[in-house]
Amino acid sequence: MEPQKPRHPDLHPAPAASPPAGGGLVPSPGAATDWDEDALRNPHARSDKAARVEAMFDAIAPTYERVNRLASFGRDAVWRRELVRAMRVSATDVALDVACGTGDVIRALAGQAPPPARIIGADFSAGMLAGGDYSGLKIPVHLIRADALRLPLQNGVVDLLTCAFGVRNFQDVDAGLSEFARVLRPGGRVGILEFATPSNRLLAWANRVYCNVVLPRLGALIARDHDQSGAYRYLPRSIQTFDTPPIMCRRLTDAGFVEVRCRTMNLGGVALYTGVRSGNGAAR
Ligand SMILES: C[S@@+](CC[C@H](N)C(=O)[O-])C[C@H]1O[C@@H](n2cnc3c(N)ncnc32)[C@H](O)[C@@H]1O
Repeated sequence: MEPQKPRHPDLHPAPAASPPAGGGLVPSPGAATDWDEDALRNPHARSDKAARVEAMFDAIAPTYERVNRLASFGRDAVWRRELVRAMRVSATDVALDVACGTGDVIRALAGQAPPPARIIGADFSAGMLAGGDYSGLKIPVHLIRADALRLPLQNGVVDLLTCAFGVRNFQDVDAGLSEFARVLRPGGRVGILEFATPSNRLLAWANRVYCNVVLPRLGALIARDHDQSGAYRYLPRSIQTFDTPPIMCRRLTDAGFVEVRCRTMNLGGVALYTGVRSGNGAAR
């Protein structure tokens, strides 16, 4: 058994919001939720993608952070730090971290000088929400269990929105980005981290070998479910079949963001997208 981490007493996940259409939050009884070969052929085209993603993260939550650190050689912390730095946090900001998982971005936001006034974390996996350690943070953090496609927040109440390695998993990427634009105030900033495929062919090949061969074995070795959920087979497949940076930038523009930029890190294997919610006062 792993030792239980201390938790902030006010951070129990809110009850589930009403189930969205197309999966998420409440998988239908008897539905398959692991990523088998059939489901992996094109994971983004699955109508039950959200339900499978939610079940998968519930299954790997206890070892999620440990696998990340090992699999990225500790680089994942650097990528999140770059994301948070690009957000230019100010002390009056209400920050929303969508697909917050076990809270790595929330902790990075809270560690900024100055930190935002308040952080909201949203995720639909109860296991991931419960696995976060928020002890010692000096600012209020509110966790909500919700689908990113239907955030239980009013229009324009958020100043900055982050989402690290979440968007690729959405049932409908455009609907998710539109939801980001809805909850952000005009002029609010968005920052998204996602995996990408390096454009250099040699690097792309090395990346493929690592993701297809090394990562699934590492995940199976460390994950408590020995990767029965298929999470570490889903990961490379979902990256290789996901949008290229120009397509993601186009989606962000279509969703209502301006000043959209993409910067790659990790030899092109990680993309950081930033943008500003259009509307009055867009330039801050
Ligand atoms: C790869 S983890 C990233 C977690 C965290 N952002 C990080 O950087 O470690 C992806 C997270 O996205 C969440 N997620 C995926 N699709 C979601 C959706 N539609 N609504 C809410 N959360 C979602 C999963 O439950 C999971 O916690």
